[in-house]
Amino acid sequence: MATTGTDLNRAVHYLQQDELVAIPTETVYGLAGNAYSEKAVVKIFSTKKRPSFDPLIVHTNALESAKDFLLDIPDTAHVLAEKFWPGPLTLILPKNSRIPDLVSSGLNTVGVRIPRHPLSLQLLEKLDFPLAAPSANPFGYISPTTAQHVEEQLGAHIPYILDGGACEVGVESTILGFDGDTVIVYRLGGMSLEELQQWIPGKLEVKAHSTSNPVAPGQLESHYAPRKPLILGNIQELLQEHGKKGIGVLSFKDIYPETTQYTLSASADLAEAARNLFKALRVLDSAPVNLIIAERVPDYGLGRAINDRLRRASAGSVQKETFNFDTPSEALDQ
Ligand code: TXA
Ligand code: MG
Repeated sequence: MATTGTDLNRAVHYLQQDELVAIPTETVYGLAGNAYSEKAVVKIFSTKKRPSFDPLIVHTNALESAKDFLLDIPDTAHVLAEKFWPGPLTLILPKNSRIPDLVSSGLNTVGVRIPRHPLSLQLLEKLDFPLAAPSANPFGYISPTTAQHVEEQLGAHIPYILDGGACEVGVESTILGFDGDTVIVYRLGGMSLEELQQWIPGKLEVKAHSTSNPVAPGQLESHYAPRKPLILGNIQELLQEHGKKGIGVLSFKDIYPETTQYTLSASADLAEAARNLFKALRVLDSAPVNLIIAERVPDYGLGRAINDRLRRASAGSVQKETFNFDTPSEALDQ
């Protein structure tokens, strides 16, 4: 059973023994292990029940340390790293042999980022290896944004959870790859395209919506999903269609009286909405409702990442035409 606390030395101790520790980042909590150790990396995949074709992100505390395991860094990537690290941005870069192929699922590139959370930065400073860390949730489920979320789902399988409070950004990092002068967005996330755009001289191409043969399995249609079915659309219309009984409502800013509901941001602030998104999905997923209905938020800035997660959360759900209120939620588990 995991202990939760803020003892960095204890976290270092476990990581040096090839054990896993959950770590706070500004985006979501990560399930961390020594990125140079195959033994630790195997544990990450098995603890998350993650398929081996889904590569991991490697976390470090300085661009200089990242150079220990990278082959080279394209100019644009270098500019973005200097400008936005530490921060919610992952860069896909050519790796050298220090990173086991298991980490990159056999690809010759690896996802790298410097997270912004002070506790994890201090932890990385104390280690002489980088940390491979996917989000600390069972594969396919909603990412954790508090230590308690991690405890609830992975607490029985890891020795320690480093508690850094609630995550400040709340959605995963934006993932970028580089192909000549073109920068490819593999996942919309905590760093907005508007912010990135001005530092990218070439083309910015969004490939985050691919549905088959994904390069980044974060691109899989059904991902980040609650167990309950989720329908995305106009909340008024959906309430008329389904009634209020047994329905959970996830709204952007409006209140829907007499419903089990969660409002992401009463002041229509997209950063606040992103921070609340995964908690809201978890709350509604464990509320006594059979169906979650949600609406899209404005599609700019962090709104793009929120809409992307909502769309994926709805993708695994049964079609509304065939929806059966008697279906136990377990049967809909992915
Ligand atoms: O915000 C985040 O990025 C969090 C925190 C913990 O840092 N981590 C996270 O990791 O979301 P994870 O494993 O849940 O998602 C990482 C995504 C996966 O979809 C993976 O396929 C993609 O990054 N990825 C990793 N390496 C890649 C590579 N070489 N090429 C393409 N995609 C890659
Ligand atoms: Mg994940």
